[in-house]
Amino acid sequence: MRRMSLPPGPQSPSVWTTLQWLRRPYPFLEECREKYGETFTFGLYGLPPLVVFSNPEHVREVFHDDGESLLGGKFNRSLAPLLGDSSVLMTDGRDHKRKRKLLAPPFRGERMHGYGESMLEITSKILDGLPRGTAFPLHEVMQQITLEVIIRTVFGIAEGPRFDDMVQRTKRILELGSWPPLLLPIMQHELGGRSPYGRFREAVRRGDEVVFDEIRRRRRDGVRGTDVLSLLLDAKDEDGQVPSEGELRDELVTLLVAGHETTATGLTWAFRWLLTQPGTFADLRAAVDELGPNPSPEQIAKCEFLDATVREALRLVPVIPLVGRVLEKPMRLGGWDLPKGVAVVCSIYLAHRRPEAYPQPAEFDPARFVGKKFSASEFYPFGGGVRTCVGMAFAFYEMKMVMARILSRLELRLAQSSFKMVRRSITITPEQGLLVRASDRRFARAS
Ligand code: HEM
Repeated sequence: MRRMSLPPGPQSPSVWTTLQWLRRPYPFLEECREKYGETFTFGLYGLPPLVVFSNPEHVREVFHDDGESLLGGKFNRSLAPLLGDSSVLMTDGRDHKRKRKLLAPPFRGERMHGYGESMLEITSKILDGLPRGTAFPLHEVMQQITLEVIIRTVFGIAEGPRFDDMVQRTKRILELGSWPPLLLPIMQHELGGRSPYGRFREAVRRGDEVVFDEIRRRRRDGVRGTDVLSLLLDAKDEDGQVPSEGELRDELVTLLVAGHETTATGLTWAFRWLLTQPGTFADLRAAVDELGPNPSPEQIAKCEFLDATVREALRLVPVIPLVGRVLEKPMRLGGWDLPKGVAVVCSIYLAHRRPEAYPQPAEFDPARFVGKKFSASEFYPFGGGVRTCVGMAFAFYEMKMVMARILSRLELRLAQSSFKMVRRSITITPEQGLLVRASDRRFARAS
């Protein structure tokens, strides 16, 4: 019998490590790696120990699992109060496979052509409404763009009172839900309507009202379009079952939440680097200008330097620091015999900062992605294996559309000099949401 033991890690009380993890996740991960080596363990208050991997061999072992022994749904439980128990993010095994089969088709690579024009259109409309000369947080603008894009993609609505209501209610949920302590099970108790969790739950209930209303309305009137809800309303699983109203709600809210805040944050980070590196910015703008005055979504999507810039931004500060799975049974992983119940996590951040794969890892250098592909265990901003992000192709595509349109329309100048990382629930954003000033680009091409 092999002895089970956990890799070394901080021995401080879990309240302290939880605080570190919530307040300064990336420095905390770096300090642990420095002190305990590339594989280490840390504890979070009220949760099983987390064993952190970043070596590509070990990450490959985790991503290789078929989803029966390493449970991502169990790891993601802290998101259940928002996404619901039957969200694809919350389920495991057969149920998880069934849900992915329903959700994945509209987000496959070949479907992207249909979304490009509306992504460009929404971006232009929002850029037109921006103040000129006064500072504003770029992150909020990116959230507005990505929220409108995802509502149009998922619900097929793009304007009018129902659309505005959905935007406002979703924003309110995110605003209240971005307070990091709400991720902890101990904070997830409704202690009256004025407590942080109570107010958050009330916002979720108000959000649900419009989502349920939309599901019922569409079921009633029978109108179908090319949106994701139309597909889900008519979908049947292998057993011929149609999704219940509750299941539909959970998947729709999952797509709304997972599909916009992440992309907005990735875009904001890309501009954080571009605006402090004028040389790289000029190279990228030249590459976009070369596409001509009115490039099609397909031309933009194929622009190699733009693609490399998006990848490099997601490498340097991945929007989500790690992905996790809970062990359903004792297993040997990364050379350690681990007991049932612990969580293994693949640190996206630490893997993306390995000098073996990325020389001078702290530098922003899109050229490292030009003509080079990294393996799925070296570069994985969208997680991996059977749980790889459903919206990966969509997010890559959208980031390129939005960036190209901004580059050809606007001049942006930074209005802040410190760029500390701040946690918003599970995502990490730049401090103050990246304050910038915008002006119209001189000699901007018509687009
Ligand atoms: C830059 C943008 C995005 C980033 C960085 C990102 C990242 C991630 C990560 C790290 C995971 C967890 C994967 C794992 O556990 O291995 C995930 C899952 C997921 N993402 Fe994304 N995501 C992005 C955009 C999107 C978009 C646009 C959508 C929807 C349109 C989406 C929908 C989902 C869903 C449904 C899951 C759950 C997959 C599962 O559990 O099987 N994401 N994403």
